[in-house]
Amino acid sequence: MIVYRDIVPGDLPALESMLRRISEFAPDELPVANEVLEGSVSNPAGSGYYTVVAEVDGRPVGYATYGSTPLSRGNWEIYWAAVDPETQGRGIGRELMRRCETAVKQRGGWQITLETSSTPQYARTRRFHASCGYTEIARIPDFYDRGDDLVIFYKKLG
Ligand SMILES: CC(C)(COP(=O)(O)OP(=O)(O)OC[C@H]1O[C@@H](n2cnc3c(N)ncnc32)[C@H](O)[C@@H]1OP(=O)(O)O)[C@@H](O)C(=O)NCCC(=O)NCCS
Repeated sequence: MIVYRDIVPGDLPALESMLRRISEFAPDELPVANEVLEGSVSNPAGSGYYTVVAEVDGRPVGYATYGSTPLSRGNWEIYWAAVDPETQGRGIGRELMRRCETAVKQRGGWQITLETSSTPQYARTRRFHASCGYTEIARIPDFYDRGDDLVIFYKKLG
C-alpha cells in the first residue's frame, strides 16, 4: 500500500540513501538535497521547504519538496522530486507532484515553477515534468556550465 504524508525525522536516513542510488544526481547535488530535506523536517515554516513523502509498506520510497518563492504573492516552486529507482514508473512521482500542487493551492498559491538542466542526462526528468502538465517557459543559456542551460518549467494551477 502506498501512503503519502508529511516528512518525519525518521525518514532522513532512507531518503538520503535513496538519493545516493539515483544516477541522475551528481555528487555535488547531494549535500544540497540533504540540506533541503533537513530544513523541511526541522523547521518547514522557517526554512520555507515543505516535503511530501511516499511510503510503500512502511518504507519511504520517494519525496517531493515545495516552497513559496520569496517576494512573490502566488508563485511557488517544486525544488526536488525523487523516487527510488526500484519503484520508479509506478505513478508515485506523478502523485507526489499532484500532492504538492494541492498543498500549494491550499496555501493560496496560483502557479508553480521548477528548474532543471538542459543536458541529455535530464531528458527523462524533462519528459516527466511535461507529462505532469508543466510547460517550458524560459531558458538561461550556459547557466550551470557551458552548454548546460537552466530550463524553467511552469504550471498554472486551475
Ligand atoms: C522523475 C521521477 C521523480 C519520476 O517518478 P516516477 O515515480 O518514476 O514517475 P511516474 O511513474 O509517476 O511517471 C509519471 C510520468 O513520467 C514519465 N516517466 C516516468 N518514468 C519515465 C521513464 N523511465 N522514461 C520516460 N518517461 C518517464 C512518464 O511520462 C510518466 O507518464 P505516464 O504515466 O503517462 O507514463 C523519478 O523517475 C526520479 O526520481 N528520477 C530521478 C531524479 C529526478 O530526475 N528528479 C526530478 C528532478 S529533481
